[in-house]
Amino acid sequence: MAGLLAGKKALVTGSASGIGAAIVAEFVAQGASVFGVDKNASAHQPSAQFDLSNVAGLPELVASAEKEIGEIDILVNCAGMAIGELIPDLTWEAYDKTLRVNLHSPVFLMKYLGVKMVARGYGRIVNITSVHGQYSEEKAMSYDVSKGGLNSATRTAALEFAPNNVLVNAVAPGFTDTPMSSNKGKSELESEWFQTVYVKYSKIPQLRAAQPWEQAKHVAWLASSENTYCTGQVLLVDGGMSARF
Ligand SMILES: NC(=O)c1ccc[n+]([C@@H]2O[C@H](COP(=O)([O-])OP(=O)(O)OC[C@H]3O[C@@H](n4cnc5c(N)ncnc54)[C@H](O)[C@@H]3O)[C@@H](O)[C@H]2O)c1
Repeated sequence: MAGLLAGKKALVTGSASGIGAAIVAEFVAQGASVFGVDKNASAHQPSAQFDLSNVAGLPELVASAEKEIGEIDILVNCAGMAIGELIPDLTWEAYDKTLRVNLHSPVFLMKYLGVKMVARGYGRIVNITSVHGQYSEEKAMSYDVSKGGLNSATRTAALEFAPNNVLVNAVAPGFTDTPMSSNKGKSELESEWFQTVYVKYSKIPQLRAAQPWEQAKHVAWLASSENTYCTGQVLLVDGGMSARF
């Protein structure tokens, strides 16, 4: 099949929903074979239902992905979770789980798959972080730490893997219309707070949230062989939000 990712094999986490599901759809449309990973069932097959807080289970997960689609050329770490909490309410359990899902599993997937990519002399890794990797907010300690850590891990892996044509970048979304933007079934993007601060007072210069496919397009290009010389970068896809002082 022709396309930006023709013949490439990709492991994409967070494949059941939102940005991850959009990445899977874009990758398939661009000719890739995709193995999805999510704690929930994914519409796409083949996929594994796997809880990424289980870092010790990753070697087995990688082996089952390779058994299904063969050697992996592209890794996308997209699965993520956020538990909003003020510091006095921070618990070790929630902090530890957020870091295992958002940071430790992505780092060890980069290790297990990146080492093989290095040996073969080709690979592309894209980590989905967040504007929270660079900018912080109250009630987001665990999430902010995890996303800042993954931006750092992106740079470290990029440096180690660069000589072997394994390029590692991050896409850092701003507000994106997915289930993560909802609280108790209500979309925060429809709230008075979002419509006033971000739209009316134009904190987002483009005056709207992104759709998941708008994130997926950037991920596909960074993950493709069209990208030959960009590594160690964090691409903020946030409607211009971070451009303003
Ligand atoms: N939506 C936004 O506004 C936004 C903004 C910045 C960054 N992000 C990041 O984008 C990524 C995708 O989020 P989304 O907005 O599509 O949200 P989403 O809730 O639609 O998707 C997240 C996916 O991750 C999976 N997941 C969560 N915990 C898991 C675990 N323990 N094991 C395996 N899978 C698990 C969920 O089941 C879900 O399918 C996340 O890393 C998130 O932090 C989202």
